Amino acid sequence: MKVLVVGGGGREHALCWKLKRSVSVSEVVCAPGNPGIAADARCVPVGAENINGLLALAASEKPDLIVVGPEVPLVAGLGNRLREKSFAVFGPDKAAANLEGSKSFSKRLMYEAGIPTARFEVHVNVDEAIDTIRSWGAPIVVKASGLAAGKGVIVAQSEKKAVDAVRDMLSGNAFGEAGSQVIIEECLVGEEASCLFIVSGDTILPLASSQDHKALLDGDLGPNTGGMGAYSPAPCVTAAVAEQVLETIARPIVAALKRKGAEFIGTLYVGVMLTEDGPKTLEFNVRFGDPECQPLMNRLKSDLGEVLLAAAEKRLDGIELEWEKGSALCVVVASDGYPGSFEKGQPIGGLDAIAAAGTTVFHAGTAAKNGAIVNGGGRVLGVTATGATVKEAQHTVYHALESLDWPGGFYRRDIGYRAVARES
Ligand code: AMP
Ligand code: GLY
Repeated sequence: MKVLVVGGGGREHALCWKLKRSVSVSEVVCAPGNPGIAADARCVPVGAENINGLLALAASEKPDLIVVGPEVPLVAGLGNRLREKSFAVFGPDKAAANLEGSKSFSKRLMYEAGIPTARFEVHVNVDEAIDTIRSWGAPIVVKASGLAAGKGVIVAQSEKKAVDAVRDMLSGNAFGEAGSQVIIEECLVGEEASCLFIVSGDTILPLASSQDHKALLDGDLGPNTGGMGAYSPAPCVTAAVAEQVLETIARPIVAALKRKGAEFIGTLYVGVMLTEDGPKTLEFNVRFGDPECQPLMNRLKSDLGEVLLAAAEKRLDGIELEWEKGSALCVVVASDGYPGSFEKGQPIGGLDAIAAAGTTVFHAGTAAKNGAIVNGGGRVLGVTATGATVKEAQHTVYHALESLDWPGGFYRRDIGYRAVARES
């Protein structure tokens, strides 16, 4: 079959790489893709947020399956528009994508469905939000309700920091429209994990567990980012924890959406905090995690094309996933300055040597300029390796990264440290 993948980041590179290796797939087209994806798919310069352009592309390419990578087009209703034209689409319609598009919608739905999550309030008024902060005290969490690429969450250790965050968001200076509603949340304590599910109507198929490092700096310090590295499996997600997340979070939220008339087809990403009182939901996403998708695709043995087509066509029931037994770990290389501003167009060398050292190099924010690969985004590369243990995979990636020739790039040196500590 012919598959069209929408998006152009590290997640989409991992998906195209895996689809190209699927027996069921004869051709992969990616819109817009990137210079790394071009090795695994035919890239077409239509942006992932250009809904009309994507509809026209689908009409001319006539793919058998369309896989939508990022959240923005899903929240904008790309799934609905493509399904109206009878395409097989992997990715939810707008109403279900709202689970990620609006944190206030998502928190209220969790509350209605009795799903474990942090206590919360939704505010549009600065003074009322500040009253809540004063009465709950720090540490406390402030979130922009709308889409903010993983950066709209402030875990404030002081009331002052929380108040500043609320003012920034509600004034519209930080995150624009996405920050016009804020969520104030109780601060949960525990270890975090990413539990992803392929969902098709009532059928929910768990993927292997993974864990992401959202903070910018070693030791999980500094501001939140889209993710600086990830690995799979996450040893803290035992079989019992996985079962609890499925039964107390994933099934009830899919059922709650259905009661609202929103059927879910796509990837449901549950960000969980493993607290003393059990797993609690931090957030839902409606697509594969990035970078989590990169180690997951490295470990997946099943034919990805077949699984995603079955989900899109609502015949997922009975399908099982097979995984490589060991671990996979991905380290993100970012531009100096990310998640703030940075200089684009810097040449990146050493990519062939990094791959030759036993890794898969997924491109996220790269661009081609005069025959060279340059940085074009904040998160630029995802360097991924597999190994018998997380420690082994970690060693391979960091050894390979010694060949990186890019003074303007940086990466965390401790991705996987929790899992490695558990292993030893
Ligand atoms: P979110 O995008 O909602 O998952 O938030 C991004 C990150 O902020 C999470 O991965 C957590 O590290 C942190 N975070 C979010 N909500 C909470 C909370 N209620 N308590 C503690 N940390 C949180
Ligand atoms: N890595 C976190 C996310 O994809 O939202």
